[in-house]
Parts: sequence; structure tokens; C-alpha cells
Amino acid sequence: METTKTPAGRHLADARRNRNVSLQQAAKDTGTPAGLLEAFEGSQLNGSAVPEYAQEALERYAGYLGIGSERAPAERGIVEAVGVRRSYRTEEITVNALDRVTLSIGKGELVAVMGPSGCGKTTLLNTLSGLDSIDEGEIFIAGEPLHAMSDARRTDYRAHFMGFIFQSFNLMPVLSAVENVELPLLVGGTGVKKARDRALEVLEGVRLADRAHHRPNQLSGGQQQRVAIARALVNQPAIVWADEPTGNLDSDTSREVLDLILDLNKNNGQTFVIVTHDPGVGALANRIIKMRDGKILDASIDSAPSS
Ligand SMILES: Nc1ncnc2c1ncn2[C@@H]1O[C@H](COP(=O)(O)OP(=O)(O)OP(=O)(O)O)[C@@H](O)[C@H]1O
Ligand SMILES: [Mg+2]
Repeated sequence: METTKTPAGRHLADARRNRNVSLQQAAKDTGTPAGLLEAFEGSQLNGSAVPEYAQEALERYAGYLGIGSERAPAERGIVEAVGVRRSYRTEEITVNALDRVTLSIGKGELVAVMGPSGCGKTTLLNTLSGLDSIDEGEIFIAGEPLHAMSDARRTDYRAHFMGFIFQSFNLMPVLSAVENVELPLLVGGTGVKKARDRALEVLEGVRLADRAHHRPNQLSGGQQQRVAIARALVNQPAIVWADEPTGNLDSDTSREVLDLILDLNKNNGQTFVIVTHDPGVGALANRIIKMRDGKILDASIDSAPSS
């Protein structure tokens, strides 16, 4: 009687035959008894039925055959951009706002993007976050190919994994602080009570619990930006993108907002990518990505985080 092979086993067997490797050779290469590899390929075992002691050998064998294992791939950047190009065409000229940008940002990093006006900083932020499209290249966020997603999927992905902070706060003027903060949750389908509780909790985190029912025009600039930060964080995003977050604030207030960002980065392990002209931000960042004319000049780790 012919035995049927589980998909996992057949997958392994096919991969080995495609590679023209004998069982004996595979056993030698992976340091695993040939009998066990045969069992992996056979009907007796599949991924979920593999006993604990053999899991590692199975993963090693799958990795050896290049068909991936159950385990997460080796640590990659949470943001990976490869050869990204973005140009703007007007009637007279074409501007290469991003010219083959390749970069990697690690999970939990606080990165400052700096460079002269018009060098492409905002374009970089908007394309890496999927707000804007690219002409060429690839962008991976936590290993997911952003460039290959449909618009709907990308919007959904952004709502779940990313927060945004803008220079001009972008708060809804008719809503109170807490209503502004809970908005992303309500849009995402969270219940009213739960959204309110969470929004109040995050407002407390930015030390604005006592201003929860003030409207934006009843708040100072720094307070408005802290509301905007609370709104960006309410979903607990893995990545927060900020475009000139201190651009409209005086130096004392900037410092306050920066301290808050630094705290969040340290305590929650959230990744921050901050476009800025503010040398104070640069000094606090783990790393400065310097741009000029749509290119990255230098993205080396050149400043240790100061506290
Ligand atoms: N919608 C657009 N149409 C045409 N050109 C654009 C558009 N948006 C940006 N650009 C051009 O692309 C280049 C990069 O712009 P970007 O806004 O990314 O610069 P930036 O580094 O953020 O500048 P700033 O520090 O002044 O905010 C600039 O030369 C700009 O003129
Ligand atoms: Mg800009």
C-alpha cells in the first residue's frame, strides 16, 4: 500500500530532489541522522506532530533546503528600503526627490533625518510609511513588502502599525483633546467606552489628563503637540513617523516634547523616525541620516544616544 505524505514532508522531499542531494549527503551536511530526515520527509511526521526534541533538526533541515523554517528570519531592520526612487514631474522639470535610496532602520531605534530644505526628507518619510507611492524600489516594514500591497491593505497596515506626528499638529479643532486622541480607535472599530479609557490613559502618559476636555485652541502649542503625540501612540504602533515635530515650538517646549519622545522610545521600544532641522533632536537620536539632493549621504551610527 502506498503511503501518502503530509504536505510538510512532501515539500521537504521535493526541495531535496530539486537540489539533487541524496539523503545521505543531506544527513552529512546537516549533522542529522538520515533516518530522521527520512521521517521528516515521510508520512509519519508533519510540522505540528514533530516531537519537541526533533523540532530544531526539522528547522535546520528546512533551512538547509532553503524553504524556510517556522522560526522568524534573522533580525532585519523594521524598515528596509532598497533602491527607492521617487520623482515629481511638472511641465518644465522632473525632480528626483529620492534617488535610489537604500537604508535600514532597526527596531527600537530613534533616527533623525536631516538635510537642507528640499533635499527629500518629507518625501522619504511619506514613501517609507506608504503615504506616498514610489516609482521604483522596494520597502519592507517588519518584513512585509509595503510596495506590493494594495492601497486598501496599505492603509489598514498603516493604521495598525504606524503613528504620525506633523509639524502643524493636525488636530481636529472642534474636538476636545480626548476626542482627538480616541478618534483613530473609533475609526478602527474599538468600542466607545474602551476607546475613551485608552485615550485618557495615553493623555495621562503625556501629562495632559487635566486638559482632556480642552479644545486645541484652548491649549498651548506644546500641549497641542503632546495631544498629537498621544493620538499617534494610542494604537501602540511599532513605528512613529514625525515630520518636524518641534518645528512650531519654542526651545523650552521643544525640549519637553523631545523628552517625551525619548521616554517613549526607551520605555516602549517604539521606533521613531524624525525629520528635523533641530540640532537638539539630532543630538538625542541614536543615529542621524543625512540627506542631500534626494540621496543619503551618511547613515552610519555616528552619535551614541545621550540621555
Ligand atoms: N508634489 C510635488 N510636486 C513637485 N515637486 C515636489 C512635490 N513635493 C516635493 N517636491 C520636490 O521634491 C523635492 C523634495 O521635497 P521634500 O518636501 O521631500 O523636501 P524636504 O527635505 O522635506 O524640505 P523641507 O525641509 O523644506 O521640508 C523638492 O525639491 C520639492 O520641490
Ligand atoms: Mg519637509
